[in-house]
Amino acid sequence: MTHQPIVQCHKISKTYGQGDNKTFALRETNLTVYEQELLMIVGPSGCGKTTLLSIISNLIEADSGQCEILGTEVLNLSDSQKTAFRGQHIGFVFQSFNLFPALTALENVASPLIIQGIKYEQALKKARPYLESVGIAEQADHIPSKLSGGQQQRVAIARALVNEPELIICDEPTSALDHESGQTVMQLLKSIAEEKKTTLVVVTHDNRIFSYADRIVEMDDGRIIGTKHNEII
Ligand SMILES: Nc1ncnc2c1ncn2[C@@H]1O[C@H](COP(=O)(O)OP(=O)(O)O)[C@@H](O)[C@H]1O
Ligand SMILES: [Mg+2]
Repeated sequence: MTHQPIVQCHKISKTYGQGDNKTFALRETNLTVYEQELLMIVGPSGCGKTTLLSIISNLIEADSGQCEILGTEVLNLSDSQKTAFRGQHIGFVFQSFNLFPALTALENVASPLIIQGIKYEQALKKARPYLESVGIAEQADHIPSKLSGGQQQRVAIARALVNEPELIICDEPTSALDHESGQTVMQLLKSIAEEKKTTLVVVTHDNRIFSYADRIVEMDDGRIIGTKHNEII
């Protein structure tokens, strides 16, 4: 089966700051992500990984270049179209979980649905199977501070899945976790992505999880400097 490109970034450049404080975060970076692959992006701190993810997600604008996601040139969308596009097509998992501290686990999973205007009870009902699928059903009514780091990340994965996005973007998803929780989180992400045919882009410098990748691209100083396919897979 040939997989189509789902993300095509072409010559994306991004700088921060002005004059002497100018930082080159991305230098004409090219990246293609194919449907249903688990792509890892690795590279030293400060090489531009988060910036690249933020541009793919439409959270920040590139200075120049093109970025096509699911056939849409996202850089041309208005702000409200960007937000809607993100909500519909992209799920996020971050290093620091980014859960709402005052909401229960189930409410956190339901939050993207509530933001879209789905009624509270209906959103909770729809969210529950996603919480079950990451093994947190018994903690549905707990607020994040009552959960372990691994459990919080599993809630975040359920939240990323609740809209059935085609693409899930993870920025250092296991970096704050111990070895066992990190493995559990990656196993879950990989098995759910395979089941739902979701594409995963995972930024990491956690070498304990490299074996989960189908393909690993290496970045340095704002550029992609190499790609390798995982032989194990
Ligand atoms: N909001 C910002 N303002 C100024 N500089 C930034 C900002 N975000 C990132 N940078 C700089 O851009 C470069 C790339 O950062 P980043 O994309 O966060 O790298 P990584 O995720 O690989 O650690 C770094 O030099 C960083 O200091
Ligand atoms: Mg980063």
